Amino acid sequence: MKKINKICCIGAGYVGGPTMSVIAQQCPEIKVTVVDINKERIALWNSEDLDKLPVYEPGLKEIVGEARDRNLFFSTEVDQAIDESEMIFISVNTPTKTYGKGKGQAADLKFIELCARDIARVAKTDKIVVEKSTLPVRTAEAIKSILENTGNGVNFEILSNPEFLAEGTAIDDLLNADRVLIGGAETEAGQEAKDALSSVYEHWLPKERILQTNVWSSELSKLVANAFLAQRVSSINSISALCEKTDANVAEVSRAIGFDSRIGPKFLNASVGFGGSCFQKDILNLVYISRSFGLEEVADYWEQVIIMNDYQKRRFAENIISTLYNTVSGKKIAFYGWAFKKDTNDTRESAAIYVADALLDEQAEIVVYDPKVTEETIYADLDYLKTRDPQENRRLLKVVTDPMEAAKEAHAIAILTEWDEFKEYDWQKVYEAMLKPAFVFDGRRLLDSDKMNELGFKYYKIGQS
Ligand code: NAD
Ligand code: UGA
Repeated sequence: MKKINKICCIGAGYVGGPTMSVIAQQCPEIKVTVVDINKERIALWNSEDLDKLPVYEPGLKEIVGEARDRNLFFSTEVDQAIDESEMIFISVNTPTKTYGKGKGQAADLKFIELCARDIARVAKTDKIVVEKSTLPVRTAEAIKSILENTGNGVNFEILSNPEFLAEGTAIDDLLNADRVLIGGAETEAGQEAKDALSSVYEHWLPKERILQTNVWSSELSKLVANAFLAQRVSSINSISALCEKTDANVAEVSRAIGFDSRIGPKFLNASVGFGGSCFQKDILNLVYISRSFGLEEVADYWEQVIIMNDYQKRRFAENIISTLYNTVSGKKIAFYGWAFKKDTNDTRESAAIYVADALLDEQAEIVVYDPKVTEETIYADLDYLKTRDPQENRRLLKVVTDPMEAAKEAHAIAILTEWDEFKEYDWQKVYEAMLKPAFVFDGRRLLDSDKMNELGFKYYKIGQS
């Protein structure tokens, strides 16, 4: 079997960085080089101060500290890394297209194509090219065509090896993966490539958890896994709206249905809506692909997951406005949390952005506190929407580093991320600092209703009347 000595990964983001760090830590005899065109990002991966790594993940800095400069390297020398590696992972971003055909739904594959062209130009020896990014089904065909038509006559085997880690638990997910999926050609060379990649993961995972399929099943399974997970969140969020009208409690409903082993307890937490860089983009991609094959009903079915998610974010913002006597103009509203979930500094598609945007439309004055998200990121998220000019965003929304400062003389607090520290606050002190009546809108069902009511808050929890 082909033994892999040198790996390169193109894309040092939330997937490339943690995934390659774990591979390097677990396979000390393999040289792993992570390359990116973003110089600042690579400089941050090389920071001496491990608290400055560009991705925050519990347990990541310890692994980088152990493997970096031993067999893990971060570099901007893309060509050199491609040239010397036997196996090349492509882990670049695949955002939703913002232009042209498929705008707003299809995946933008320009970064993938650039990588394929770089590999084709540079490679002088046979390579195994691994799709780590999430891609529309049949993308491997396009990559193969580019590699074979512009390459230097070397042999390329293309594998699909989608990543299933969730942010905030990336290291644990990588070290204890439920499964690793490897798709490849059903040929002798394809089998050899799949086995070579499998042997990398076998350094720390039992072989039974490494599934091999054809390329297309692997590419499609990634989109389907995300669609099923997001569908559970939208399903329970739809029920949260019904609970608020009927005196049912969504946590009790989740528990009651989750005890059925066929349903299971995970991913049934009602929330202000799912965020993150992938659920929405991957479902939109599935919708686009289905529609492009003329499967209208299939497309409509999955699109409803997104429609429900948009409704949930809007519903949360509208509840704040109507509860605050139908006007939030000039009212200070503190946001606790901006990240799309706890234990990450990632804010892509975070519900907080859309709730803030709706409240800013009503001239609310928002003060944000998040333990890991920078002011720069928060303004960039809002500016990206282009709803109002950047100066207006900065006039109406402030970012602070002290949660008590955010609460001071606020009319309301909205909890947008389930950071553990919010549970530990002295809520009596928070109450005293706020204007009365002191409203708390808990979009994460984080706090205890009885305790909050006893303290005097007007406390609203998603999924409970
Ligand atoms: P990211 O934006 O954090 O990182 C992508 C990196 O690729 C960026 O640093 C960018 O500069 C770099 N890049 C783009 N084009 C390049 C090129 N031609 N050469 C070199 N570098 C280039 O994205 P991410 O969150 O790591 O996601 C990457 C892929 O993994 C996406 O397809 C995503 O759907 C998938 N995925 C993400 C997650 C997650 O939790 N974020 C989980 C599973 C799968
Ligand atoms: C998700 C998947 O869980 C990963 O398996 C997948 O690899 C990844 O997408 C990807 O392809 O990018 P991630 O988006 O990082 O991971 O985080 P999740 O834990 O799935 O949470 C997504 C969103 O759903 C968050 O906003 C979270 O707060 C929300 N959520 C999750 C709920 O509102 N309720 C739940 O019960 C679970």
